[in-house]
Amino acid sequence: MSKNSYNIIDHHYDVIVVGAGGSGLRATLGCAESGLKTACISKVFPTRSHTVAAQGGIGAALGNMGEDNWKWHMYDTVKGSDWLGDQDAIEYLCSKAPEAVIELEEYGMPFSRTDDGKIYQRPFGGHLTNNGEGAPAMRACAAADRTGHALLHTLYQQSLKNNVEFFIEYFVLDLITDDNGNCIGAVAWCLEDGSIHRFLSHQTILATGGYGRAYFSSTSAHICTGDGSAMALRQDLPLSDMEFIQFHPTGVYGAGVLITEGARGEGGYLTNSDGDRFMERYAPNAKDLASRDVVSRAMTIEINEKRGCGDNGDHVLLHLEHIDADTIHKRLPGISETAKIFAGVDLTKKPIPVLPTVHYNMGGIPTNYRTEVLRPTNDNPDNVCEGLMAVGEAACVSVHGANRLGTNSLIDLVVFGKASSETCKEKVRPNSKKIEVSKSRTEGIIDRFDKIRHSKGDSTTGELRTSMQQIMQKKCAVFRTHDLISDGINEFQEVEKSMDSIDIKDKSLIFNTDLVESLELHNLMAQSKVTLHSALNRTESRGAHAREDYQERDDKNWLVHSLAWLKDNGQVNMGSRAVHTNTLTNHVQPIPPKKRVY
Ligand code: FUM
Repeated sequence: MSKNSYNIIDHHYDVIVVGAGGSGLRATLGCAESGLKTACISKVFPTRSHTVAAQGGIGAALGNMGEDNWKWHMYDTVKGSDWLGDQDAIEYLCSKAPEAVIELEEYGMPFSRTDDGKIYQRPFGGHLTNNGEGAPAMRACAAADRTGHALLHTLYQQSLKNNVEFFIEYFVLDLITDDNGNCIGAVAWCLEDGSIHRFLSHQTILATGGYGRAYFSSTSAHICTGDGSAMALRQDLPLSDMEFIQFHPTGVYGAGVLITEGARGEGGYLTNSDGDRFMERYAPNAKDLASRDVVSRAMTIEINEKRGCGDNGDHVLLHLEHIDADTIHKRLPGISETAKIFAGVDLTKKPIPVLPTVHYNMGGIPTNYRTEVLRPTNDNPDNVCEGLMAVGEAACVSVHGANRLGTNSLIDLVVFGKASSETCKEKVRPNSKKIEVSKSRTEGIIDRFDKIRHSKGDSTTGELRTSMQQIMQKKCAVFRTHDLISDGINEFQEVEKSMDSIDIKDKSLIFNTDLVESLELHNLMAQSKVTLHSALNRTESRGAHAREDYQERDDKNWLVHSLAWLKDNGQVNMGSRAVHTNTLTNHVQPIPPKKRVY
């Protein structure tokens, strides 16, 4: 079929949401509740979105199980971000968190309960009381260790109740823009019948998740290919803070599957080959509940200094066997199964072998706290790209800065998912005038799709994906140096050269997974490339970005968000944008940078 004979179908909406994970569904639900004609487009069935895999909890200072306060949550989040988070956005997140969780409860989310019927809360890494000076805060609101599952199903059911229009198993190819570069919708491929769809809309919300699959060992699902962020790059929009990749301390050794930090929240601890509880040396106060970057680095140092466990000395052990089996059964049923299946371990009897594993992207599409996408200019670093919003892991609001605290992802999804619907409500009237565009406006998108579909050569998607993942895993890891990252960039160029010669054997348009994976690989490659260049560019250590050749944080030169543009000729251009060190209101004062110790 040539491009002229694609069956193209037009749709008109007030708002479209791309992605049906926690942030996409919360955005969709909010828009639908406001009477906006809204479509939610997803490449997978909504309840298969990666939010379903979130385990340990959603962060909010409810104070159900001990004193807490949203301002302490804000302090911890700013400190956790290593001061790279925007404090106006962090204030927004933490102050709105309690009502967002209560709203989920009212929507019917099946939280675990305390004996007196309140939402159960557990401690999590980096969450403390009393502005970092006190005991661990009981702040992670949990549904056993399946919190994301409970959240996603609740939001999906509410969306159905509100008659949301879903386009399921539609792969969005690219954004449609007008002559001014403003977004007016997106083009998608229907995997079921092969038709091509143009969704024309007044606002487009990207809720397309992270790109964890750029790495070889990742807790992310195979669908986590950051498609929306790659679309933003193709519109000459920058991605922000892409060097900050979170390694979760406890991926199952060998399999990479997540063992929730809630396990340490319930009393679990890590040991090295000497049986030493090494976190006591690295974080004397918070110990095993220090923030993730700190714990992952400590584990890596233990392994590098020959105190790793197992025949190859290449992992450490997570102990839960001292915890009462009833508590494990009630609070951590999911990881009990995970440990059995993926490590062959009964965790009530033996420790689990674990290793830091890629888990989250702090970077993404830069937005303000209203979730509007930024197109920074020299005159205005906070300039907005009209018609386009981003939420969830796809976005860089930035509330996580250089390192995200556990549980702050789920709360980010619902607080900013809802914020995007509120911004839409301000900007768009229900049943707004239809946007019409000529066929020629979207021809370039179809041409690109057609080119990839008909690509011939001697490489396979799987081979190139593995090469890319190995480069990212080895050359852009927990510890980095100029030489290591430069090597990665050189090796990456070789993979890049082969991208035009991928042999797509299946040319059909119906559930062509070969083609889907190839489109996803193109998206991953674009994000990996800007990640490598952003990591090379930032000559300091901050949060998850640990440069062995620049070991100190450098606030004088680097208290800025990095921006990376991927030009049509393949060049990466770097820039920066000031961090918002101001708060949103005078309810709270800015938190000045200081040394980050746990
Ligand atoms: O460890 C976990 O349960 C993961 C939580 C998170 O990434 O927020």
